[in-house]
Parts: sequence; C-alpha cells; structure tokens
Amino acid sequence: FESLVIHGGIDGDKSTGAVNVPIYQTSTYKQEALGVNKGYEYSRTGNPTREALEKLISDLEKGYAGFAFASGMAAITAVIMLFKSGDKILISNNVYGGTFRVLDKIFNNFNIKYEMVDMTDIKKLKESISEEVKAIFIESPTNPLMDVTDIKTVSELAKENGILTVVDNTFMTPYLQKPIVLGADIVLHSATKYLGGHSDLVAGLVVVNNKELAEKVHFIQNSTGGILQPFDSFLLIRGIKTLPVRMDRHIQNAKKIAGFLRNREEVDRVYYPGLEDHPGHDIQINQANGAGAVLSFVINKKYDYKKFLENLKLITLGESLGGVESLACHPASMTHAALPYELRQKLGIVDNLIRLSIGIENVDDLIDDLKNAF
Ligand SMILES: Cc1ncc(COP(=O)(O)O)c(C=O)c1O
Repeated sequence: FESLVIHGGIDGDKSTGAVNVPIYQTSTYKQEALGVNKGYEYSRTGNPTREALEKLISDLEKGYAGFAFASGMAAITAVIMLFKSGDKILISNNVYGGTFRVLDKIFNNFNIKYEMVDMTDIKKLKESISEEVKAIFIESPTNPLMDVTDIKTVSELAKENGILTVVDNTFMTPYLQKPIVLGADIVLHSATKYLGGHSDLVAGLVVVNNKELAEKVHFIQNSTGGILQPFDSFLLIRGIKTLPVRMDRHIQNAKKIAGFLRNREEVDRVYYPGLEDHPGHDIQINQANGAGAVLSFVINKKYDYKKFLENLKLITLGESLGGVESLACHPASMTHAALPYELRQKLGIVDNLIRLSIGIENVDDLIDDLKNAF
C-alpha cells in the first residue's frame, strides 16, 4: 500500500517524463478531425489530472473505477442519484449531518426515502429491509459516536436481498479499511479529510466495484457536473502519497490521547474504537488495520464545555477532521446541527460532547493543551 499510494493510478506523465502528473488546466481539447481525439473532449467528461486521481483511488480501494467530485457531499449526492422515486435507502444511525440533510431536505422532495437504522443491530437491520429498500448506507465508525458496523455481515445481507451496500470510508481511508474487499459495492470519501490530509482542499471520491455501476456513476458525474478541478485533483494526489505515514502518526497520537482522557475526572466517557471496552472494538480490529484518529468525549456537566473549547490553544476549534493539525469540534452546534434537538439527544449527541480530530503534532504538546484547558 505504501508503494501504491506513490506509484498507483497513473505514475508520472508519459509525454514529458515528469515524475508527477501535471495539472492539465484546460476545459477543452483539440480534435484532429470530427470524432478523432486523444481520448479527451471536454473536462467535465474527462481530464487527465482528475483521471490520474480517479485511477489512484480505485487502485487503493481495490475497486473497478473511481470518480472525483467537488466535495464529499457532491460525491454522496451523485451516489444517491443512482436511485429513483419510490426507492428507500437505509442509513446508519448518526451518519454525517450533511448526508442526513441532503436526504431529508433535498432527496425527500424527489420521493427518494431514507430510514435511520442502528446498523450495529443486524436483526433490526434485517427487519428494516422491505421491497422499496434499494441500498444500505454505512459509516463505520460513525461520526461522532464511533459506532462500528460489521461491513462484511451487512454486505452479505444486502447481497441476499439484491440491494447495494454503500460505505462512507472517510474516517478510515483505504489504508485502514477496504469496504469493497469486505463486500461493499460502492465506497465514498470526503477526501477533504485524511486523503487530502492538509486542510487545504475540499473534494469527494467515489469508487465502485463493477462496470455497470461505473458507467452509471460516470453518466451522473458528466450529466450533473459536480467534478473536481485539475488543481485540486493534483493537490489530492499529492496528499495521498503521504497517507500511510501520516495515518500511523495520527493513530499513535490518538491512542495516547484516548488513554489520557479516560483517566481525567472531568471526562464521563470516551468514544474511541481503539479502546478495548468500546462496544465495537472487536469488529473494528477484525475489519480494519487500526481505529483511526477521531475520538469523542463527554465532559462532566459540572464543567463548562464552552470554556474548555475556548481555553484550547494548540488544538483549533473548527469544523472538519483528518488534517495534520488537531481540531476540536462541538458536534451539537457544528457538524450535527442539522439534526433536530430530540434526535440528537436520542442518539447521544449531547451538548457536552466534544469531538477531537487528532493531528500529527507532538503528542505531549497536545496533552499539555488539553490539561491546560481542563
Ligand atoms: C463522514 C463524512 N462524510 C461526508 C462528509 C462531507 O464531505 P465534504 O465536507 O467534503 O463535502 C463529511 C464532512 O465532514 C464527513 O465527515
């Protein structure tokens, strides 16, 4: 994998020998005669820099084909467009707020329905599959409570029922988890996060496991136009090259911080699948090569969580995750504000829940910052 991130997809530029795929900043291509071209006609349909990225992510996820979009939400939207009026998608409890929002507020208007299911409960999931259900959409671990879903079992169940399994693999990346190998049909990413890795671009990726789905997703990508631009494609290829080394350090830091937090009297609970007593720990270590570097914790009500966030100096309060810098987030008012209050309470996204994306800084500096904020 460490070699594939550097040499996978399209390695360098054949026409010049450039070691890196150039930024083909062009909208159109010269046609030698009517219908005769070098494989590119218009950059919404195909662009060599984007294509290099698309081949790379497909290689990394062990899929059939990859597609790059202007954001994770554009990628998710394109995947939902595979379905039609009357279809229903089962989604994980506490999926990313934006996924919930696009289904609830946009696709609902087109009669594409959704139902939230606790995917950790396979019996309940089975009972939720009806005639109109056409896909199961998983995030594992989920954001922000780190529920772990058994991707292999869910994919088998989906196959038995002739429906698709879609996995948002943003939190894990193919370095840690390969949903297609576990049986999923479609994998998608907010590449804004670990794949980009430097909080300097917004991008989305989709990988599918067969030709038929590839043709459909390409048709949607070309028809609706939510493509990733050449410069951002280049940045993303550049980011992916260091994914394994960054990820190793992210995880090393996250493990230490999870251990630190669980021993603090200000903290009621830590959600991190790397902890042995996390409910999904066994499945996590079985289906992934690590627990990632996002963790959440509940600050005891005696303490003021707002002050805690204000007191952080090195860890930045901000949306997003997966960058080299550590970020703190308040899910109830930030990432999951789109969820109604009652639903947030029911799911456990309480007001005193804090989510950390652990960066690759010196871990003792991070721990000092947390200590100081407490
Ligand atoms: C798990 C997950 N999926 C999808 C998205 C949406 O991606 P983007 O912000 O790149 O549109 C996010 C963003 O935070 C996310 O965390």
